[in-house]
Amino acid sequence: MFYEKVKESADFIREKLSEIPKTAIILGSGLGGLVDFMEEKCVIPYAEIPNFPKSSVAGHAGNFVVGKIGGKLIAAMQGRFHYYEGFSARELCYPLYVMKLLGIENLIVTNAAGGVNRDFKPGDLMIIDNYINFIRVNPLIGDNDDRFGPRFPDMSEPYSPVIREKAENAAKKLGIDYKRGVYALFNGPCYESAAEIRAFAALGADAVGMSTVPETICGNYLGMEVFGVSCITNMATGIATVKHSHEEVVRVANEASEKLCAWMKELVVSI
Ligand code: HPA
Repeated sequence: MFYEKVKESADFIREKLSEIPKTAIILGSGLGGLVDFMEEKCVIPYAEIPNFPKSSVAGHAGNFVVGKIGGKLIAAMQGRFHYYEGFSARELCYPLYVMKLLGIENLIVTNAAGGVNRDFKPGDLMIIDNYINFIRVNPLIGDNDDRFGPRFPDMSEPYSPVIREKAENAAKKLGIDYKRGVYALFNGPCYESAAEIRAFAALGADAVGMSTVPETICGNYLGMEVFGVSCITNMATGIATVKHSHEEVVRVANEASEKLCAWMKELVVSI
């Protein structure tokens, strides 16, 4: 049943495209601007895709966009789904199953995150080396369909070393400074307490956010090469000297977006 639903969504998208990309990128809060760099675009609103979830967060448009960037065909999710919106972890990963049936092999995930590592500052970009799933919810809970992936997928290398190396080369070529670190998932929608951030820091987190981990787990399960990058939009609670606001997160993400877009453009051309 699930497989048939996913197939219906994938067939709908495939019919609109003359060619299927190998790489998809999920654009986080304030980072949707990458779509402006895309040429020969086919924009498919989520609302039109049968069985697709619908996004509700300010700063997140809801479009599945296929087009060329630097001459390379990619798919972009302009707007993602979050656990705090009330989706189950499986539902919010629904687009990945659709991508799998379309034949997409590489998944780039981007997000806005709070800096837990005190060496970071707002505006920094961080390659995600690993994750901690603090909310313990897993998108793979439920029946397993072996046509998608194994019951017990390995997570010893959730982020592709091959794409990471390409990303590092691309950053060096462009003179873009970046950090590397561990991304911790907090369920939200409230920001973390200062005590939670102290606990996360002690447990090895460098950045904290409300997305990306379910997609990372699901992408690995589906056999995709996953690469992740966080835009540090603010220092996390207790490290920051001001209160958080979503407007500020989106503003800093928008500011860093030019640098991130240039980087991702260089990266997708190389994979
Ligand atoms: N915490 C959680 N998610 C976030 C943050 C934060 O400080 N900043 C941007 N997304």
